[in-house]
Amino acid sequence: MWEVDENEDLWGDATAPTSAGGVHSGSRIMTGGLTSEDLEVERSLRPQTLDDYCGQEHIKQSLRILIKAAKDRGESLDHVIFSGPPGLGKTTLAAVVANELGAQIRTTSGPAIERTGDLAAILTNLQPGDVLFIDEIHRLNRSVEEILYPAMEDFALDIVIGKGPAARSIRLDVPRFTLVGATTRSGMLTGPLRDRFGISFRLDYYSVENLAEIVRRSAAILGVSIDRQSALEVASRSRGTPRLANRLLKRVRDYAQVRGNGAIEFAITREALEFFEIDELGLDWMDIRILETLVKTFHGRAVGLTTLASAVGEDPGTLEDVYEPYLLQRGLMIRTPQGRVATPAAFEHLGVEPQG
Ligand SMILES: Nc1ncnc2c1ncn2[C@@H]1O[C@H](COP(=O)(O)OP(=O)(O)OP(=O)(O)O)[C@@H](O)[C@H]1O
Ligand SMILES: [Mg+2]
Repeated sequence: MWEVDENEDLWGDATAPTSAGGVHSGSRIMTGGLTSEDLEVERSLRPQTLDDYCGQEHIKQSLRILIKAAKDRGESLDHVIFSGPPGLGKTTLAAVVANELGAQIRTTSGPAIERTGDLAAILTNLQPGDVLFIDEIHRLNRSVEEILYPAMEDFALDIVIGKGPAARSIRLDVPRFTLVGATTRSGMLTGPLRDRFGISFRLDYYSVENLAEIVRRSAAILGVSIDRQSALEVASRSRGTPRLANRLLKRVRDYAQVRGNGAIEFAITREALEFFEIDELGLDWMDIRILETLVKTFHGRAVGLTTLASAVGEDPGTLEDVYEPYLLQRGLMIRTPQGRVATPAAFEHLGVEPQG
C-alpha cells in the first residue's frame, strides 16, 4: 500500500516546515522520515538482537533458522533484502542480522556509492564473513549495480584496466560476504538485482500491542516510567511505525516532565496528545486539514492534486509524497482519475454526514 508513487526522494524532506504557517509551522511529529533528533536517540533505542526486536514474528523466526543453518555449516548467510515503509526497522534489522551472525557490519547507501571504483574499494576491503549493508539500495546507479552482480554471485570483481584497444579485464576475488540491502521502494529495484538476493523480507506495519511493547522498552531505556494504558495509547496513535512511536513517546515524556510530575500516566498522556494535536488515528493537524478540505470545502467531490495543494497551502509534491500515503493506506482518501476523493470513513472520522 505504501508504494504509491515513483518520486525519487520520497521521505527525504518530510520534516521541512510547511508553508501552512500559524502556530503549526515548524517540524511535524507524524512523519515517517528520519529527523536529526531521531538519529541520536535511535542509536540508543535500537534493538541489538532478535530477542530485543519486537514484532515481525515471521521474519524473526525465518532469520533465526537461516542464521543458525548458515552458522552451523560455517558458511556466510545468503544475501538478504528488507523492504518496507520508513521507520519500520529495516536498518535495525540489518544490524541485528550482523550481530546474530557474529559478523562485522559495513554500512553504506545507494546514493553514497557514486562510482564503480567506490564499490570496488568497499568490496576489496571486506573481511570474510562480513555483512555489507547497503541502505536505499534502489538508488544505486546502474554501472555500480553491474559491478555488484558478479560480486554477489561469484564473489568476484571484474575490473577493466587501461583504455581503448589496450584495455583488458581482470577478475579479482572478493571475500565471501553477505549483502544486506534495505529499500523503501522495492518496486524500483531492477529485476537482475532483486533476483540476486536469496532471501527477501517485506516489513509490515506493527500491531498496537507490538508498538506498545516497543514504547515500554524505549521508556525503560530513557529512564521514564509509563503505565500500560499510556503505552497502548501512544502506540495506537503511531501509525503502525516504531519510529513514530518512539518520537511520540519522547514528546509525551517532555510534556509529562513540564506539566506533570515526570511519570507518564494516562491523564497526562491524553493531555499531551491533545496538546500536540495527534488524534486517535495518529492524524496530525495537517492530515485533518486535508481531510476537512475534501469533506467540508469540496463536499466529497473529486479534487485535483494542485487544487487540493493550494487549498491547504502545501506544495503538490509534498502533499503527494508526505501526507497522502498514510491517508490512502487508512482508507480515508482514494485517488481516482478525476482527483482525490474523501471516503465515507473520512466523513465519519470528522463527524460529518455525507451528502447524497
Ligand atoms: N522491531 C522493533 N523493535 C524495537 N524498536 C524498533 C523496531 N523496529 C524499529 N525500531 C525503532 O525504530 C527506529 C527506526 O527504525 P529503523 O531506522 O531501523 O527504520 P528503517 O526501516 O530503517 O527506516 P528508513 O526507511 O527511514 O531507513 C529504530 O531506531 C528503533 O529504535
Ligand atoms: Mg533505515
